[in-house]
Amino acid sequence: NIMRKNIVAGNWKMNNDLKATKKLVKKIRKSLKKSDLKDTRVIIAPTFVNLATAVKRSKKSKLEVAAQNMHQAKNGAFTGEVSAEMLRSIGVKTVILGHSERRAYFGETDELLAEKVNAALANKLEVIFCFGEELADRKAGKEEAVVESQIKNALFHLEAEAFKKIVLAYEPVWAIGTGETASPEQAQDMHAFIRKTLADKYGSDVANSVSILYGGSVKPANAKEIFSKPDVDGGLIGGAALKAEDFSAIINAF
Ligand code: G3P
Repeated sequence: NIMRKNIVAGNWKMNNDLKATKKLVKKIRKSLKKSDLKDTRVIIAPTFVNLATAVKRSKKSKLEVAAQNMHQAKNGAFTGEVSAEMLRSIGVKTVILGHSERRAYFGETDELLAEKVNAALANKLEVIFCFGEELADRKAGKEEAVVESQIKNALFHLEAEAFKKIVLAYEPVWAIGTGETASPEQAQDMHAFIRKTLADKYGSDVANSVSILYGGSVKPANAKEIFSKPDVDGGLIGGAALKAEDFSAIINAF
């Protein structure tokens, strides 16, 4: 879509030690050199401990580095946590917030995520905001209501201006790591609904400028069809982002 940047982002989750991080960054850089990707942003999100290395080793390439999470406070007695300011200080410019694994295993609520979004934006970090329904929601026909409330609760306190630094990532929980993908039509329907939800609140200029990524078992074999849908502006890739060959095949699916 000409109004928006395409984005392919790899969420490495809790995978890759230091050595594996260096190796994978190197391979991705190499494959990026070979392809003509003027209109596609490529982002990787390694674990906290390897972020600084990934940033250093991505210099002078088009590869961007994101964090997978952050704490909402500026600093203080929060053992084990990492702040937005710390991420910025090592050259990270983007943070993933609201991933379903954070919501499910670490109790992150919409209210908490609203605070995290605020802290990220206050520190000039771009946010890749994740949300998506569970299987039971879809079976009950409630997927749009669930997604709408996740977006409203965490983002609709923001000014329109803030959406310049927000990317949305629709990840239906039933499609994450399961091998089951939303069909391209299911993805498109939901993305169009998300864009309409944004347009109703902020107007169509804002809605048309926000990139909406699909996540959930994207692989080289299905990426092209999913990315061809008009409201799908790229993908947030889990498992397939851990192999350079698969990740670059997905990037080149645009
Ligand atoms: O954030 C990416 C994600 O949760 C999708 O994971 O392994 O299904 O591609 P995967």
